[in-house]
Amino acid sequence: MRAEYKTKSETFTEKDLKGKEPFVQFREWFEEACKHPSIIEANSVCLATATKDGIPSARQVLLKGYGPEGFKLFTNYNSRKGQELAENPNAALSFYWEPLKKAVRVEGHVEKLSASESDEYFHSRPILSQIGAVVSEQSKPIVSRDVFIERRAMLLEQYGDGSEQLPRPKHWGGYLVVPEVIEFWQGQTDRLHDRIRFRRPKSGDEPDGVLLHQGDNGWVYERLSP
Ligand SMILES: Cc1cc2nc3c(=O)[nH]c(=O)nc-3n(C[C@H](O)[C@H](O)[C@H](O)COP(=O)(O)O)c2cc1C
Repeated sequence: MRAEYKTKSETFTEKDLKGKEPFVQFREWFEEACKHPSIIEANSVCLATATKDGIPSARQVLLKGYGPEGFKLFTNYNSRKGQELAENPNAALSFYWEPLKKAVRVEGHVEKLSASESDEYFHSRPILSQIGAVVSEQSKPIVSRDVFIERRAMLLEQYGDGSEQLPRPKHWGGYLVVPEVIEFWQGQTDRLHDRIRFRRPKSGDEPDGVLLHQGDNGWVYERLSP
């Protein structure tokens, strides 16, 4: 497949940066993706993790919050990704908003969100989603769907009317991906795509305003060859 980038995407230069730090730029692009009529789940993002030996795995998750401190997502702590993050806290995220020909890559480490923040988000979800998190031993082999149907029906009977709060299972909660690198990619029809990467400076880095630029809030940034 060799798709033409029919939408005339604008070039993305250092002058177009909405701030000299990545959070402001991410917010700009993310909000643009959220408003786009043909992007249904702009918050869908590929999360890559790895074992302590560096064997990688990747899957789609939903971004549930972000800010200068990082990117928030929720899952089962005992799942494959949860086990990998327990033994190796390094993670990467990859967004791609196809109609906009925009991509964002994040690399960093994860921290668990506080129990109270996980509780708050858990209880904001529809009851069937809450029950799903309780009954599913995510990533474990099971014989059939019937394994959790009965348990779900019991929980629905007890908690379905909302008079009693279903406790959040301890194995389910949030992670914060704390970014050390955030790259913004703008696709171009001529394939000379624009890439601007923010990162935390390494020792010996000297921003010269030509190849390496001093950003705000402890970030430096640079243009990468496509
Ligand atoms: C669009 C989309 C969004 C998803 N969002 C989540 C999510 O927010 N949390 C989650 O645990 N799984 C989510 N999933 C399911 C995961 O992709 C995956 O199947 C599951 O987390 C188990 O992954 P693991 O076995 O690698 O831990 C989503 C799947 C899709 C396709």
